[in-house]
Amino acid sequence: MKKIYIAGLVAVISTTCFADGNRLPATIPPVVKQECASCHTLYPPAFLPIESWKRIMTGLEKHYGTDASVDAQSNLVITQWLTQYGGTYKRVSGSPPHDRITNSAWFIKKHNGIAAGTWKNPKVKSAANCTACHTRANEGVYDDESIVLPK
Ligand code: HEC
Ligand code: HEC
Repeated sequence: MKKIYIAGLVAVISTTCFADGNRLPATIPPVVKQECASCHTLYPPAFLPIESWKRIMTGLEKHYGTDASVDAQSNLVITQWLTQYGGTYKRVSGSPPHDRITNSAWFIKKHNGIAAGTWKNPKVKSAANCTACHTRANEGVYDDESIVLPK
């Protein structure tokens, strides 16, 4: 009995920690998953300032070399969601060049120690390919425990 109780308690504690490490908001409108998670992982709004998200959402027809445009109603819902939760990651300050998370000062600093060979690994291809190393990026989890560098 006691053992079961402790196991239950541990589960509760780890669930709480896990929820805390999740960078994606608890509520994600279906249209966001549909339109912003098909070509790459759904990037947490927290990682870019609100100005950057607004620029991205008004330039979707020329989106990093591709056309990612959506209808006006979807654009409204997605923009609302991105700007509601935008820029809340503690290290975000000012718009990075080309409104890329991967150009942010904090991003460069955090990823400084990664070997050149790892970036060139065909499984990585681009720094924007978060899921190549952050195995739980699709769930919004970027903590150290979930990082597996591709071999
Ligand atoms: C048709 C494919 C496609 C769709 C749909 C799409 N994107 Fe992208 N997105 C790209 C490509 C390609 C890149 C550049 C990736 C790279 O450099 O490796 C990119 C890059 C980005 C980046 C910059 C990543 C970095 O380097 O930090 C952000 C932010 C972004 N997309 C947000 C969005 C949002 C928000 C939506 C939904 C409105 C969206 N994307 C939908 C193709 C797409
Ligand atoms: C080539 C592998 C690789 C790619 C691709 C990558 N990361 Fe990382 N990332 C790492 C490693 C390794 C660390 C741990 C660095 C450290 O702890 O010193 C890290 C750390 C982080 C951290 C800090 C985690 C913490 O708890 O402090 C965040 C946030 C993060 N990455 C976000 C991203 C995002 C967002 C993307 C995609 C736009 C991305 N990373 C792409 C390897 C990668």
